[in-house]
Amino acid sequence: MHIQNECLAEFSKLVQTGTCGSRSGRLKTGVDLGTANIVLAVVDENNIPVTGIYAPSKVVKDGVVVDYFGAIKVIKQLKEILEERLGERLLDGAVAIPPGILESTARSIANVAEGAGFEVTNVVDEPTAAAKVLGVMDGAVVDVGGGTTGISILRDGNVIFTADEPTGGIHMTLTLAGYYGVTLEEAETIKKDISREDEIFPVIKPVVQKMASIVKRFLTGYDVEKIYVVGGSSCFCGFEDVFEKEIGIETIKPNDALLVTPLGIAWSVL
Ligand SMILES: Nc1ncnc2c1ncn2[C@@H]1O[C@H](COP(=O)(O)OP(=O)(O)OP(=O)(O)O)[C@@H](O)[C@H]1O
Ligand SMILES: [Mg+2]
Repeated sequence: MHIQNECLAEFSKLVQTGTCGSRSGRLKTGVDLGTANIVLAVVDENNIPVTGIYAPSKVVKDGVVVDYFGAIKVIKQLKEILEERLGERLLDGAVAIPPGILESTARSIANVAEGAGFEVTNVVDEPTAAAKVLGVMDGAVVDVGGGTTGISILRDGNVIFTADEPTGGIHMTLTLAGYYGVTLEEAETIKKDISREDEIFPVIKPVVQKMASIVKRFLTGYDVEKIYVVGGSSCFCGFEDVFEKEIGIETIKPNDALLVTPLGIAWSVL
């Protein structure tokens, strides 16, 4: 397995503690504009994680920027916090697009990062960014985010198939809200409470099974030996086991699945 777990763990520590690691040369920033979170990942010229930050996001829906100026504002704020932390300006950046979106959406995502003061060197697709960090050349990368699940199949390092499905963490939250008779906000808090995971997981398991059955359908006809799950909604302990059982293909989840794609975007800066 080539997953860069150590590198991810280091990045995760820097994000959680709000600190910077040692660095050399030019800094590169990956900007991940998601439905649930906006993440900025900073690496140095050797792709060593330097620092990072995230904030909840309401500016993107299903891969489309619905609040353009709000998005610029949040990214600007996060960029300033990181620059203060680093004592250095951040300039070169890359953004990512979910699989299968329109070119106009891709442009608007790049424009948001430019509007926040980044020089966007390139736009990568999310699965390719994730695959870099995972060290995956062949297999399927499944990114289970807040609003959508992106499915990509790679062969010899190239993406040969992508799909984006409107199922994600929000559907787990909705299920919990119904089950406990609470608001979506309360359900979201319950969902992320690791101490209640044994109680929660059986409730949301049907949602995970449904996601797995959708993924299985997309993989039909392709020769896929391994599935790699990333994204915040795959964080549940046992998530990958449900996938493996439903789909019948070995399923691997890296530590810190939430940060894989953002780190890969930073690595993609030209
Ligand atoms: N510890 C956790 N356990 C379960 N779910 C979690 C956990 N942490 C985050 N999530 C869920 O992960 C989702 C966010 O994941 P992520 O940041 O990958 O999404 P996104 O990139 O913003 O969304 P999308 O890719 O759909 O645009 C949210 O639904 C959130 O509730
Ligand atoms: Mg995402």
